[in-house]
Amino acid sequence: MIKYIVQGGTRLSGHVNISGAKNAAVAILPASLLVDGVCRIENVPDISDVRLLLEILRNMGANIRRFGRNTLEIDCSHVRNATAPIDLVRRIRASYYLIGAELGRFGHARVAMPGGCNFGVRPIDQHIKGFEALGAKVSTDRGMISAEAPDGLHGAEIYLDMPSVGATINIMLAATKAQGNTTIVNAGKEPHIVDLANFINAMGGSVKGAGTDTIRIRGGRPMHGCTYAVIPDQIETGTLMIAAAATRGDVLIRGALPTHMEALTAKLLEMGAHVDEGIGEDSIRVRSDGNHRHVNIKTLPYPGFPTDLQQPMSVLLSTARGTSIINETIFEMRFKHLEEIRRMGGISQINDRIAIIEGVPKLVGCPVTATDLRAGAALVIAGLMAEGVTDIYNVHFIDRGYEHLEDKLRSLGAQIERLPA
Ligand code: UD1
Repeated sequence: MIKYIVQGGTRLSGHVNISGAKNAAVAILPASLLVDGVCRIENVPDISDVRLLLEILRNMGANIRRFGRNTLEIDCSHVRNATAPIDLVRRIRASYYLIGAELGRFGHARVAMPGGCNFGVRPIDQHIKGFEALGAKVSTDRGMISAEAPDGLHGAEIYLDMPSVGATINIMLAATKAQGNTTIVNAGKEPHIVDLANFINAMGGSVKGAGTDTIRIRGGRPMHGCTYAVIPDQIETGTLMIAAAATRGDVLIRGALPTHMEALTAKLLEMGAHVDEGIGEDSIRVRSDGNHRHVNIKTLPYPGFPTDLQQPMSVLLSTARGTSIINETIFEMRFKHLEEIRRMGGISQINDRIAIIEGVPKLVGCPVTATDLRAGAALVIAGLMAEGVTDIYNVHFIDRGYEHLEDKLRSLGAQIERLPA
C-alpha cells in the first residue's frame, strides 16, 4: 500500500508534458489481437492498467517488446489461447475489450466479468446487444462472459440505447473482422474512439465516421501490422489544468490537444481563470489568481463535460465564491470523494445524482482515502489547495491512470511525496 503526503499551499508553475491517453491505450492494445503482424505503438502511458493488459496479452501468447518507457512492439501472430487469465482480467475495467478483440480474431471469446472503478452498476448490455447483432451467441455464467459465433460474424446495423464508449469500441473491434458492413448508430464520440478507429485503419481496416454519432465499419478486410502513436490524454490534461487553477498557478501544459478540452476550458473561463490556447497548436496555458466564481456542471458524453473530470472539478468548486451545482448524468455513484472533501472543510450536499457545493474560504489538510482513480486525482488537487498536510491513501487507484503524477507535480513545484502507507 502506498500513500501520498502533500504539503499544500504551493502555487504550481512551469511546464509539464502530457502522456498518452489511458482510455485510448487500453483499447488499442487489445486491438493488436486483430492482426498477424507487429504493431509498433508509441506514446503508450506507463500506468498500471497498461501493465496489466500487457501481462494479460503476454499470458495469451503475445510477443511484446518495450523500447524506452513509452514505445511497445506487440506481435500477436502466435496467440492461440482465447482465455485471458481471470485474476488479471478482474482487476481492470477495460479487459472487456478482450471480448470484442477475441471474438473478431477467433470467432469465440471467454472473459471474466471486468473489474475497475466502482461507481455504480456499469452494465454491459449494449456490448452484448452488439455482439449478438453481429451473429454471436453470448452467455454469462459464474462471473464469466462467453461469446461464440460458429458461423462467423456478419455486419449489422446496431443502435445503442446510449452513446456508450465501451460498447462503441467493443463493437468496432468485433465488426472489423465480420463479413460485410456494420453501422453503429448513436455511437460514442470520445477522442479515444477516434484514436482506436485510426489505429484500426492503420492496420488496414476501414472505420469511417468515428467522432460522429454514426460509425461505419467495412469488415473482413486484409489487415497487417503498423506503426501508431496514441493521442494525448484528455483527462490528464484536464486534471493538470484544474490543478493549475486550484493552486493560483501558471502552468504551460505541452503535448495536449486543446480541441479535446473545450468543455473544461469554457468552465474555467466562466470561473475567472485564464486559459490561453494560442501558444502553439498543442499547448494550453492556465493561470489564475484563485479568485473563482461558482459555476454549474452537467456531465455528458463528449463533447459535453467529461464525467472523469467531474471529481477534480468539484474540488476546485469547493473554494469558489457561491453555490455550485453538479449534475452527474453518466454514473450514479460518483460523489464518494466529496465525503473526503468534507473532512477537509468542504461543504456539500448530495442528492442522488446532484451535488450542491457551497464554496468555503479554504480547505484544511487531513488523512483522506481515494475510492477510485479520478477521486484519487481530485484528492491530490485538494491536498495541493489545502492549508497544512494531507495524507492520501489508496494511491494504487491513481497509478491505474496517471503516469508518474507525483513527478509531474513536483516538477511544477508541488510538495508531494510517495511513501509506503
Ligand atoms: C468509459 C471510460 C471511463 C469514462 C466513461 C464515460 C474507458 C476504459 N473508460 O467507461 O473512464 O468515465 O467511458 O465517459 O474508456 N451503460 C449501460 N450499458 C452498457 C454500457 C454502458 O447502461 O452496455 C451505461 C453506463 O452504466 C453509464 C453510461 O452508459 O451510465 C456510459 O458508460 P460507458 O460510456 O460505456 O462508459 P465505460 O465504457 O464503462
